[in-house]
Amino acid sequence: MNAADRQEWALLQAVLAAELQAAKALTSQGKAASYIPELAKSPPDALGISIMRADGAVLAEGDVHLSFTMQSISKVFTLMLALMDNGERAVFEKVGKEPTGDDFNSMLKLELVEPGIPFNPLINAGAIVISSLIAGRTPAEKAERILDFFRSLAGNEELDVNESVYRSEAATAHRNRSLAYFLKDNNVLTDDVEEVLDVYFQHCAVQVTTRDLARMALVLAYDGTDPITGLEHIPRRFVQIAKTFMITCGMYNASGEFAIEVGLPAKSGVAGGIMTLVPGRYGIGVIGPALNAKGNSVAGVHLLERLAQRHDWSMF
Ligand code: DON
Repeated sequence: MNAADRQEWALLQAVLAAELQAAKALTSQGKAASYIPELAKSPPDALGISIMRADGAVLAEGDVHLSFTMQSISKVFTLMLALMDNGERAVFEKVGKEPTGDDFNSMLKLELVEPGIPFNPLINAGAIVISSLIAGRTPAEKAERILDFFRSLAGNEELDVNESVYRSEAATAHRNRSLAYFLKDNNVLTDDVEEVLDVYFQHCAVQVTTRDLARMALVLAYDGTDPITGLEHIPRRFVQIAKTFMITCGMYNASGEFAIEVGLPAKSGVAGGIMTLVPGRYGIGVIGPALNAKGNSVAGVHLLERLAQRHDWSMF
């Protein structure tokens, strides 16, 4: 680490508590998701952040002991696993590469646009198709491979599916079922719909802390190689694809604004998590269950805006 990096780390350490407290005031402007009934139990005023650097040192502030489900953040990693299992050509025959400007669970463009494949792998329709592309003979085997992949990236063998959130989503996912049956009718999904959805619900319900997200993001910040262990987990090209989707679609139809205000690849989830990274420097995990109208953590986004602007982190 050079002197400038050491200085920035010290500065971050000095300002993080105050920035977090200021951002926490915004939690009252949002609401925890409730369309998955179990998520409504999340503490709405929580806010926590972990920032990890290449030697594994972590700055942690706020509610970092809270565990929460990855939800849509998991889609970044299932995309990369599907790319490793099938290659780029086969994956992009089934999902597109463009943002939608619609909500994450929208059906609108599936019918409007030929040839009826989801616009990108980070909206629900696209991520459901990606779940069907994960290698494995049975849904249980696919889910296990996904979990193993997440565990190795997080360096945490304890990662597991939160059974109550998984069941809560599976019992109420009428919209995702409609999307999946529509995709089946279009022959984009060829497997059994309920089996594909089961894999999808399980990976969305993997329970993490901000530290786990920071560690997973650190691997992306270092192009697929864990800087702590030196292990190459993901080919650079697939990380590049995933990070590009994070920029263009990671915060749904707030991705443009986030790119302007923060300027980093990021992915949010409806449990209130945000995973982001500063390329070649940090992996960052945030939790703040109160969401804004676009489904992103209201205080989490604000905190990242403040930190990125203060430390000039934008890639642009
Ligand atoms: O399929 C769903 O609706 C959830 N399991 C995931 C959606 C999500 O996290 C959207 N993120 N902001």
